[in-house]
Amino acid sequence: MIEDKRWKGVYSFEDSPFIMEILTELRDEKTGPIPFRKGLVKLGRYMAYELTKTMEVERVPIKTPLEETTGTIVKDRRNVVIITVLRAAIPLMEGLIKVLDHARVGIVSASRGKAPKFEIEMRYVKVPQIREEDTVIVADPMIATGSTLIKVLEEVKKYGKAKRYVIVGVLAAPEGISRIKEAHPDVEMFVAAIDRELNDHGYILPGLGDAGDRAFGAP
Ligand code: URA
Repeated sequence: MIEDKRWKGVYSFEDSPFIMEILTELRDEKTGPIPFRKGLVKLGRYMAYELTKTMEVERVPIKTPLEETTGTIVKDRRNVVIITVLRAAIPLMEGLIKVLDHARVGIVSASRGKAPKFEIEMRYVKVPQIREEDTVIVADPMIATGSTLIKVLEEVKKYGKAKRYVIVGVLAAPEGISRIKEAHPDVEMFVAAIDRELNDHGYILPGLGDAGDRAFGAP
């Protein structure tokens, strides 16, 4: 996990060969929907595991069948809300929840309109009440213009103040990260990699194409 020097609290996993191998398969245009979805689930699982390294832990007394000793529990893992941004985040959430198995889950349907305005439409919002001990994880594979995530975070913040707000994604464009950090400086971001730039249609370059289309085989 590497903190990018350009922003505070923005991490990529370019130092993890295994995460990079999964990303390579996702980027490859020859990868079909089934391995693409499986790759997103795998990434979700490993990124959640990495995220637990940044969580508060507690030492607890336990008894093995032989004697008393001290164990560790990841306290914050018990207080997680995962917000799934439809539709591409569904497989990512499936992976996240394998590690963060106590999580309460919110669903937000948010999609961006066409260039040049990229206006955000939010049609369905179902978010659990958020408590002060919660880590809110917003799962969205592609942090492109950042517009969707800015709106989703605005909405989610109406449900209570959390201990941490974290975006988990696969790829991010520098433009999107900067816009989100400007609107929500309290948000941390964990992505597999930070790519070069956006094209005129708001796609990340080199990217992996449209994550939702590729995961579900339906444009
Ligand atoms: N959403 C995607 O699925 N891909 C991009 O490159 C940008 C936004």
